[in-house]
Amino acid sequence: SNKHTFVMIKPDGVERGDVGNIISRFENKGLELQNMKLMHISRDLAKKHYQEHKEKPFFNELIDYITSGPVIVMIWEGENAISAVRFLMGATDPQKAEPGSIRGDMALSITKNIVHGSDSEESAQREINLFFK
Ligand code: CMP
Repeated sequence: SNKHTFVMIKPDGVERGDVGNIISRFENKGLELQNMKLMHISRDLAKKHYQEHKEKPFFNELIDYITSGPVIVMIWEGENAISAVRFLMGATDPQKAEPGSIRGDMALSITKNIVHGSDSEESAQREINLFFK
């Protein structure tokens, strides 16, 4: 449903020590943390997660990066959680993300863009199942 979304703090976010800051932003908004774990994603899982990008020129770079170190995966709950999280994250390209958003404040590169959040109800359900079931 629209009440739950999947969020990943990517390897550079974990490595730089931005986990607390990112979680605080979601908590301050009023979203509720439902589940969370630290994990190192296998290449197989990474390819499943990003299957819709498999024909893109940046696919290999994306898989190399997302498997390069531990990530934090989370389920957040709240009214319109999917769009709330996407708004807090800012545009996919940090160069275009508004100051005040997570990517606008904390990232420079479209590959190392700190966080991932589901873009639709369908992908939220798919990603939650992939990482938590
Ligand atoms: P994410 O929200 O995790 O979903 C797909 C990811 O692909 C995206 O964030 C970016 O990190 C990455 N991505 C999207 N477009 C490009 C691009 N043009 N070049 C490199 N990486 C990209």
